Amino acid sequence: MTARIIDGKAIAAEVRAEVAAGVAAFVADGSPPPGLAVVLVGDDPASHVYVANKVRQTEAVGMTSRRYMLGAETTERQLLDLVERLNADPHVHGILVQFPLPPEIDTVKVVSTISAAKDVDGFNPLNVGRTATGMKGALTPCTPLGVMRLIHSVHADIAGLGALVVGASNVVGRPMARLLLQEQCTVSVAHVLTTDLERRCRDADILVVATGVPGLIRGDWIKPGATVIDVGITRITSSSGTERLVGDVAFDEAIHVAGAITPVPGGVGPMTIACLLANTLSAAQAAKEEACAPA
Ligand code: GUN
Repeated sequence: MTARIIDGKAIAAEVRAEVAAGVAAFVADGSPPPGLAVVLVGDDPASHVYVANKVRQTEAVGMTSRRYMLGAETTERQLLDLVERLNADPHVHGILVQFPLPPEIDTVKVVSTISAAKDVDGFNPLNVGRTATGMKGALTPCTPLGVMRLIHSVHADIAGLGALVVGASNVVGRPMARLLLQEQCTVSVAHVLTTDLERRCRDADILVVATGVPGLIRGDWIKPGATVIDVGITRITSSSGTERLVGDVAFDEAIHVAGAITPVPGGVGPMTIACLLANTLSAAQAAKEEACAPA
């Protein structure tokens, strides 16, 4: 068997086209375009690249973007003051503070200060709770949202299937498990310390891996025909000095066993920003509905 490759680039382009159409309708209805503010603290080179991509893609779908580049010496109080100003700004519908933050700044305090209505990352405790309970109006973390879309490109209905999420981070693993459960999968969560990881992987109809450990999941750990989603992305340098990006799944082995699999790169990666744009549009639409609602 050779697995079907799930083309994240193409599916992300579909999501961006849907968002662009939604933005055009929003503006045609007389509203200013949705606005996203992205805040970067410090000089992490990878974060600079991510933020530049977010700004470019935001503008490409017709939304406005604002970029705040703060020095590494920025204090927690200064960052919280900026977040509070953005919370109060009616032209800003989405706020994203790029991680990682310098260690002196309390990340939980920052995400808790971002207004839940503008929390397009879905990390504010109110949105975490809303996502966990399947409440309408939740802003859901972008990568798990993107993964659900990739899974649905293979399965119209996942109710009753067995899903294993490997990785229990607040950014991917935990919200991922909650979304799968919401759609009535039978969900387990494992992580790099799980003792019988190999056996658990073999039971999974849907395997989502987000550990950051390159090649952790071997081909013969996969249930034949399973859908495999590889969230991991690590840059490795070979002995000859060439660099390449690899996932958490041994792709060359897994492709002969899985029914469908995401490549790295070009699988989950492009979905994250596409879903950020979708969340920003949702936040703008919700703000408009609230402004129009009778008192
Ligand atoms: N850094 C890496 N991934 C993310 C993400 O999804 N959101 C934010 N805010 N920072 C990140």
